[in-house]
Amino acid sequence: VRDHHHTPPPAHAVTSPANPTVTNTPVDLLVVGGGLMGLGVAWRCAARGMRVRLLDRGDLGRGASWAAAGMLAPCTEAQFHEDAVYALSAQSQDLWPQFAADVEAASGLSVGFDTCGSIVVALDRDDDAAQRRHFAYQQSLGMQVERLSGAALREREPLLSPKAIAGTWSPVEHQVDNRLLVDALIAACTRAGVALEPHRAVTAVHVGAGQVGGAIGDDGVLRPARAVLIAGGAWSRAIEGLGDVTPPVRPVKGQMLSLATEPRYQLAHVIRSAYGYIAPKADRWVVGATSEDRGFDVRVTAGGVWHLLDGAYRAVPASHELPLLETWAGLRPASRDTGPIMGDCDVRGLYFCTGHYRHGVQMTPASVNGVAACIAGEPAWSTHAPFNARRFAAGAAHG
Ligand code: GLY
Repeated sequence: VRDHHHTPPPAHAVTSPANPTVTNTPVDLLVVGGGLMGLGVAWRCAARGMRVRLLDRGDLGRGASWAAAGMLAPCTEAQFHEDAVYALSAQSQDLWPQFAADVEAASGLSVGFDTCGSIVVALDRDDDAAQRRHFAYQQSLGMQVERLSGAALREREPLLSPKAIAGTWSPVEHQVDNRLLVDALIAACTRAGVALEPHRAVTAVHVGAGQVGGAIGDDGVLRPARAVLIAGGAWSRAIEGLGDVTPPVRPVKGQMLSLATEPRYQLAHVIRSAYGYIAPKADRWVVGATSEDRGFDVRVTAGGVWHLLDGAYRAVPASHELPLLETWAGLRPASRDTGPIMGDCDVRGLYFCTGHYRHGVQMTPASVNGVAACIAGEPAWSTHAPFNARRFAAGAAHG
């Protein structure tokens, strides 16, 4: 718990009877949250020789990282005037091939990295007008995008609806299988010696004299650590002891479903329209997504599924013939300004890597590599500067 006086760790910071691996010896880094960010930074830091412990409130990697579609879409998802977000996204896109290769080498597992490109289709004149405005913005930032006619789009992607009148094609928007990536990062962490503690929520971070001392689990045991990383996604806000750098994140619900692929129906690109997206994986099409402010409610609704199936049908009518495999909902962690929260803060040893909202998978390489470098005391990444937690602290110019 935050404490500005020099308080030694409480007496209960002893070997926990419930978990004999927890001891008084501080680890170099304690990671709160076992999603892509937490697992990624834990792995990168352990590979640098640090002793790392990671806690997650549930199964590892089963939050937003599991729920996502795995699209790597810095151009399509670029929002008007969010140039700093795009700079980080573009850097991450450049890092993706090496990052995927590194994770695969470290884990021995595939992450399904697929350089498929993307198509955003306009299904009526309003869509087309909106896309043209966005295309002008994309071009102003030098993105690799091209406008194509409906006929040219169907030549590339024959299953597209005859109602697709035009669209934007990007050859540089790729995808990964985010669920394979989660499994590969867990394996990479295990091989690198990270102590993984699933089903153990962190209730508070211990801070004394402006220095992190560790984190307290929901078993009441303090796990001493020289540094703590907050990577708890939508749950990061509930952690006590963070004071004015408590991450202002809220959950934004996304309902999703998947369809089983059939050999006669192949998609070569990630397909989007104003109604949703289809990310074709090796064994399934992932269809997304709703965007709803409903707190921590992850129930799948009839309306949500209807919206997803309707969106898939409008862009790719053949989708209605595929077997429905799975439905689910995840919680995107959205910060107050929707930008991620990364790097250090005024408390020594306290770091953040959370709040990536709609872009967590896409931004994983730049976020993980940059935050691991920051924790290791290496030079700060300039793309991370706009996203420091200090921007939300009381008295900050743009909190
Ligand atoms: N990035 C896709 C989504 O948030 O639904």
